[in-house]
Amino acid sequence: MKIAIGSDHGGFELKEAIKKQLQKQKISFKDFGCATPDSMDYTDIAYPLAKAVAAKKFTCGILVCGTGIGMSMAANKTPKIRAALCHNVYTAEMSRKHNNANLLCLGGRVLKTKDALAIVKTFLSTPFEGGRHLRRIKKMMQGGK
Ligand code: RB5
Repeated sequence: MKIAIGSDHGGFELKEAIKKQLQKQKISFKDFGCATPDSMDYTDIAYPLAKAVAAKKFTCGILVCGTGIGMSMAANKTPKIRAALCHNVYTAEMSRKHNNANLLCLGGRVLKTKDALAIVKTFLSTPFEGGRHLRRIKKMMQGGK
């Protein structure tokens, strides 16, 4: 398993906490930035990271901004990306089981660190259920065509 992780300034602190958890779990990752808590544009991280995940260079991605909203909107513009903005363990679990999400978005300013870390653990350990959900995802990826 190899994770692509990134944030803007609003998600910087949480990104660093997630990296520590990944290191403890011996899960390899690449940090796409940002490298400091200085103000920057989340799109500059979201697009390169989402493209790398879509190209299957990583198992999945994690993007953190202040609310997770900007990151999820930007990431979902990349073909083959299914980015899920999760606020708790249940939505993280369902985003994998039912939506086969390949990118987790989190809000660094809305989540307690311990809750965010539990969300990440759940996202990374929950498999896609397939079956009827695969049919729905195929339709989704056609974009209504
Ligand atoms: C930055 O202030 C903030 O707008 C950003 O982190 C994110 O929450 C946008 O959706």
